[in-house]
Amino acid sequence: MNHRLSLMKPSASLVFMSRAKEMQKTDPTVIGLAGGEPDFATPDRISMAAIHSLTEGNTHYVIGPGIPELRAAIAKKLCEENDIPCDENCILVTPGGKNAIYLAIHAVLNEGDEAIILNPAWVSYEPIVIAAGGTPVNVKLNYKRDYRITAEALEAACTEKTRILIINYPNNPTGRILHKEEADVLETFLLKHPNVYLLSDEIYERIVYDKKYSVSMASRPAVAERVITMNGFSKSVAMTGWRMGYLVSNKEVFQSAYKLYQHSLSCMSGFLQVGAIEAFKCQREIEDMRKIYEQRRDMFVGILNSIPGVSCPKPEGAFYAWVYFDVKGMNSEEICEYLLKNAKVVGMPGTAYGEENVACMRFSFANATAELEDAANRIREAILRLN
Ligand SMILES: Cc1ncc(COP(=O)(O)O)c(C=O)c1O
Repeated sequence: MNHRLSLMKPSASLVFMSRAKEMQKTDPTVIGLAGGEPDFATPDRISMAAIHSLTEGNTHYVIGPGIPELRAAIAKKLCEENDIPCDENCILVTPGGKNAIYLAIHAVLNEGDEAIILNPAWVSYEPIVIAAGGTPVNVKLNYKRDYRITAEALEAACTEKTRILIINYPNNPTGRILHKEEADVLETFLLKHPNVYLLSDEIYERIVYDKKYSVSMASRPAVAERVITMNGFSKSVAMTGWRMGYLVSNKEVFQSAYKLYQHSLSCMSGFLQVGAIEAFKCQREIEDMRKIYEQRRDMFVGILNSIPGVSCPKPEGAFYAWVYFDVKGMNSEEICEYLLKNAKVVGMPGTAYGEENVACMRFSFANATAELEDAANRIREAILRLN
């Protein structure tokens, strides 16, 4: 067996999601808030375009890094919405955002190179770095300081082996966005370390609240050349099952990633790409979903914050509540198990994201509003029983 793969842990979110599904078979009242999947249907015009293309016979190999119309639409979006002036020839359309991250990390890392991962972090960065033969270096940002990125934390983790820094804003799990001040810290860091690439995972970029805006690092001209931006359709357009993502980078990274792509995937499905083009015409549907997430956030977080010993900062983006518990000295995993048994609500323990210093959990609020309200009230009752 491959020794690198034996070092990998199974995906904690997939483990908890299947645990919820398993429990629901015998007890349909169990509420699963462990996953990260919009409960909305993919907008109709996207599905209809894909179906039409499929029935028209678009069912063969579509060799290339993505169909030109889709790459052009992505380039236009990045330029207009994210201030990223990109060359559409450097856009790679990938099967899901996860694969875009996999390709980017493999394109850049050599055996033994180090990758800085800011914690709390999404569960797949570390295993992907390990699969690429790299060494993950987890930088624990401080919850007491709102998980702000600091120059000191980055510098302390950086060595001559550091090749890539991975960031994710809006963040899963904390819901934080990238503010100008932290973008400045990142820019200064990159300028100081010319051999380091920045991988910016912006998969939740369209889901931001309170009229805020999360900075895209590739919009900074001084460092744009070394920023690899990854985004996709899964979260913002409710297209998780389509497996559609993309990567934009400089030519060198693109060519390296595209070689691996050719030998592992060949190409993307043509009719799915035709469908994805329509996503750029779904501004209204995307905004409608965003507004509903915002209402759910306010309701869910409001109920949780009314529980003694529980606090949840309002997430600025994405659809996760990152909730702190100060109850009976219990740690993240104990609380997770307790709520599973006593509230029948499945969430994720903070430790799955590398947060060991404080008892916390992540709950997705991409579920139906009534179900979320029920879940929040059950959590409330279960914690009150403890106190
Ligand atoms: C932070 C983050 N990045 C990337 C992904 C992967 O997205 P996709 O489903 O498009 O592969 C996810 C999905 O949960 C995510 O939360």
